[in-house]
Formats: sequence, C-alpha cells, structure tokens
Amino acid sequence: MARKVLCVVGTRPNLVKVAAVLRAFAAQAAAGTGRLTPVLVDTGQHYDEALSGRFYADLHLPPPDYRLGVGSGSHAATTAAVIRGLEPVLLAERPDLVLVFGDVNSTVAAALTAAKTGVRLAHVEAGLRCFDRRVPEEVNRVVTDALAELLFVTEAAAVDNLRREGREATDIHLVGNVMIDSLLWALPQAGSSRVLERLGLAGDRDLAILTVHRAGNVDAPAPLAAILGAAAELAGELPVILPVHPRTRARIREWGLSGFVCEPGAPPRSRVLVSEPLGYLDFVHLLARARLVLTDSGGVQDETTVLGTPCLVLRDHSERPVTLTTGTSVLVGRDRQRILAGAHAALRRAGVGERPPPPLWDGRAGERIARVLAEHL
Ligand code: UD1
Ligand code: UDP
Repeated sequence: MARKVLCVVGTRPNLVKVAAVLRAFAAQAAAGTGRLTPVLVDTGQHYDEALSGRFYADLHLPPPDYRLGVGSGSHAATTAAVIRGLEPVLLAERPDLVLVFGDVNSTVAAALTAAKTGVRLAHVEAGLRCFDRRVPEEVNRVVTDALAELLFVTEAAAVDNLRREGREATDIHLVGNVMIDSLLWALPQAGSSRVLERLGLAGDRDLAILTVHRAGNVDAPAPLAAILGAAAELAGELPVILPVHPRTRARIREWGLSGFVCEPGAPPRSRVLVSEPLGYLDFVHLLARARLVLTDSGGVQDETTVLGTPCLVLRDHSERPVTLTTGTSVLVGRDRQRILAGAHAALRRAGVGERPPPPLWDGRAGERIARVLAEHL
C-alpha cells in the first residue's frame, strides 16, 4: 500500500534538501521497491523569488501541494503561524509521516504540529549540535530531535550527540547528506552557468565568495562591520562576491556600512561586489570556481567540504565538526584580523589537495532515507 509522507519546507536550504528526497522517492517508485507518496507543504518562511521560486525551478521541484504563506515575523510569530497553518493540513491529509529538514523555524514548528496532531515525525539532518542555546537554530535542532521518532543523520558526531541525549541506536540512521546529493546532481548543469559574465567577472581567474546572514553576525553592527571590513580589504587582492541575503542588505543600509560594498558595474577595487541572492545553479558554479569561501552558512560548509574549496567559517563554533576535521572549513569567528589571517593562509596554499569526502556523502543519502522510510512505514 502507498504511504503518504508529508514534507514540510520553508527556506532556501530546505528546498535544496527536499529535492534530493523527492528524487529518491520517485526513483524508488520507478524501481518498484517502495511506494512513498509525497505531499509537499511550503510554509512560505522564505517567499522572495530569489530565495524560493528560483530554487523550485533550478532544482526541478514540483509546485507545493500547500502554501501556508506565513511570511516574515519574529521567531514566535513565524513558529506560531506555521503551527496554525499546518494543523488543518495534517488533519485533512492524515499522512503516515511528517518529514522535516534542517534547523529553521519552519522545521521546529512542523515538528510540534506533528506531535500535537499525533502524526509520526522524521528529521533529516538530526543530531547536529553547536552546544550554544543562544543560537536560534540550536533550539530548533534540540526540540525537533526530541519529538522525532526517526533521526536521519549526516555524520558520526551527530550519532554520538543523540546517544548522549539518551536516544536508542535503533532510532538513529546514519544516511549521509542530502545537501550533497543535490550538489552532485547540480554540478554538471551548473557548469554552463553564465553568472560570472553577468557579474562582469568573466576574465577573473581567482575569486572569493562571502555569504553572511546568521543572527549573531548581522543583528549587531560590530560583527557585520568586522566581516565586511575584512572582506573589503581582501577585495584588494581578488574579487569578493557577496550574494546578499535580504536581511543582511537591510542591515548594511541601516548601519551605514554601504562603503564596504559596491554593485556590479562599479569599480570593485577594495570593495565587496554585492549581488542579489543567487540561484542554486549559479551559486554552485561559483562555489566550484572559488579560491576561497567566507560564510556563516551551514549548508555551504558542507558543500565546500565536498568541492575541496577552502572555507572560512564566520562563527565561533560549528555544529558540523566533520567539515572541520576532514573538510576544508576553518573557524575564524568575526574578528577582522583573524579573518584576514585565515584568508591569506588559505590563499598561500596552492590547494587543499584531494581529500575523500566524509563517509556516505556520496549522493545517495536520499535513497537511504527512502529505503528506511519504506521499511519503517
Ligand atoms: C532563516 C533561518 C536560518 C537559515 C536561513 C537560510 C531561522 C531561525 N533562521 O534565516 O537558520 O540559515 O533561513 O537562508 O529559521 N526576508 C526577505 N525575504 C524572504 C525571507 C526573508 O526579505 O523571502 C527578510 C525579512 O526581513 C525577514 C528576514 O529576512 O524578517 C529574516 O528572515 P527569516 O526567515 O526569519 O530568517 P533568515 O535570516 O532567512
Ligand atoms: N545558496 C544559493 N545561493 C546563494 C546562497 C546560498 O543557492 O546566494 C545555497 C547554497 O549552495 C546552499 C544553501 O543555499 O545549498 C544554503 O542556504 P543558507 O546559507 O541560506 O542556509 P543554511 O545552510 O545556513 O541554513
């Protein structure tokens, strides 16, 4: 009998992750090895074309079956709006399982709604911990994992975290990383992206990418000024591209930091070149080409690990330790001198050399999730 799996997404990284799972469900059905019928619910936490619609197109996602349209708000307001919007959907659909991804507010809200309506819950990217409850995503991770009966895990440290929290080994499935499934799927197509021409950088051999949107980096002027200051100094040596999250763009304006950045077309000497947030294929193209990435994104740390691109993590800790131990990530915090020292050290090295990716980061995590779900349901 077909089983109904209701997948809840709300933000850009959720779309990258769910795409891998939906592809795996379709492949499983085509092979006759399982019948998992997906229902896709988009909460609308991200709604701009550049953060949402573009990703449906780039990742060949079907339109969602339900759009909750929650929009932006405080943490409590967003979480509450998802719960209110999702409850009637769960009551009408009566899925066999709710599947949630990552650590955003839509994730924890969907987890709570599943628990309150008595629907079984599985979490993709479970067990990651930075051990700092001031980080909003950490609260989302801990609560979601506590409510999920099936925990799909990307790396061994996450298994250890969950075991330490008292979870049974049978609840935990080390399946690999769905973000890497999508990356490996996208790479061949990303090769033909014309993003560098659009940014006026077609002639540049070397470039660096900066992404920054985490609360700890953009909700106060000092860390954002330090990061942009370091990046602008680095831009004296090679072009630094900032595909800017709308939250960060607003803060740059609000805090008078516009002098550190310039728009495409302006002479970029010692200024960071800002663009709109890039579509997935364009961004993957840049990641694969970059000499250096500076980021506070979780997903980008995973991607640079597999691509072998040096990655300076603009945070004091990472919930993804494998990206530090076997990957290319180095923690540099938000101190201008530390960022610059890290950047120069990375640029001095000719390359990071061939490194095997973390175990099971092989493009087949979605397939493993589909297999576990088919067995479990
Ligand atoms: C959210 C996640 C973060 C994740 C990121 C992925 C939480 C707590 N944070 O952060 O973990 O890394 O998504 O990108 O869930 N905005 C727009 N257009 C949009 C969406 C947002 O302009 O389409 C602006 C609004 O001003 C909004 C602000 O960005 O208030 C923040 O949006 P929100 O979804 O709350 O958090 P993100 O910073 O996107
Ligand atoms: N990404 C993208 N365009 C951009 C910035 C990021 O396509 O301009 C992709 C990136 O490749 C990764 C995902 O978005 O797959 C990461 O999302 P984000 O950094 O917003 O969230 P996080 O992973 O930190 O939760």
